[in-house]
Amino acid sequence: MSMAATLTAVRIPTFHQRHLKQHFTAPSSSSLRLLNLAKMEGSEISEQVVGEDLGAKKKVFVAGATGSTGKRIVEQLLAKGFAVKAGVRDIDKAKTTLSSANPSLQIVKADVTEGSDKLAEAIGDDSEAVVCATGFRPGWDLLAPWKVDNFGTVNLVEACRKRNVNRFILISSILVNGAAMGQLLNPAYIFLNVFGLTLVAKLQAEKYIRKSGINYTIIRPGGLRNDPPTGNVVMEPEDTLYEGSISRDLVAEVAVEALAYPEAFYKVVEIVSRPDAPKRPYHDLFGSIRQQ
Ligand SMILES: NC(=O)c1ccc[n+]([C@@H]2O[C@H](COP(=O)([O-])OP(=O)(O)OC[C@H]3O[C@@H](n4cnc5c(N)ncnc54)[C@H](OP(=O)(O)O)[C@@H]3O)[C@@H](O)[C@H]2O)c1
Repeated sequence: MSMAATLTAVRIPTFHQRHLKQHFTAPSSSSLRLLNLAKMEGSEISEQVVGEDLGAKKKVFVAGATGSTGKRIVEQLLAKGFAVKAGVRDIDKAKTTLSSANPSLQIVKADVTEGSDKLAEAIGDDSEAVVCATGFRPGWDLLAPWKVDNFGTVNLVEACRKRNVNRFILISSILVNGAAMGQLLNPAYIFLNVFGLTLVAKLQAEKYIRKSGINYTIIRPGGLRNDPPTGNVVMEPEDTLYEGSISRDLVAEVAVEALAYPEAFYKVVEIVSRPDAPKRPYHDLFGSIRQQ
């Protein structure tokens, strides 16, 4: 589907829908506490429901759940008491990658290149947020970054619109806007764009999300590491960081915490970790970033 076609297929929400903020708290594993806070800006309408053992966990759909970051996001969501729908390309592979015995985990087929209708089916009518941790797998297809990191993400956003899911977390990358930052000669910018303009593809997807009206948090990590976290998270506004790295465990943590704090709504954040950085609570980290 062309970008123009996908754009016209999207229902643009009204101002008030766009500003409907849902506070997304994780239920604790022992006693399920469900807190929904919906606040309509400008009209003073707010609603709060608190209940015990309601028997329904908040369900989050994770695209790219078999990936190195995606599987960590799944694990951390489950550990926090969420139900998870893991969107994967290969269900058999997923059963070995993920702890499929967990009753709160459901594995569903979801290839982001197969269009928004199939994705909407996979997301279902019970997911309340979508986390996108996909990334093209290197191969012979030079268009793969565009198919996965651009159009695939656009398809996911459209699928959310079809299912009235209004919370979207994207794992993107620092330097996506490297050209505008004067980083054209940064070796990382050159390297990541050599294969299919990966960063440019991601930036286009980000732009689409930001125009779509969906409540987004775009997380742009530095270089990803598999080893356990060293140091603390440094969070900066968009187009600030041009070097640094971070453990995938911490990236997953930031993605999960973004679901809990309204301070993360409609924001783009760049993250790395540094040994000398002070440990700051997440509401403070997200709160320090201005909405654009
Ligand atoms: N590597 C870095 O240093 C770095 C730095 C900053 C940002 N990032 C970005 O961070 C994100 C996560 O990176 P990662 O290294 O953790 O990812 P990864 O291990 O490469 O995993 C990528 C995931 O995307 C899935 N995927 C690929 N094509 C798909 C498709 N057509 N439909 C659905 N899923 C598809 C893969 O599924 P399969 O398992 O089936 O292949 C896999 O689950 C990526 O967007 C990456 O570009 C990476």
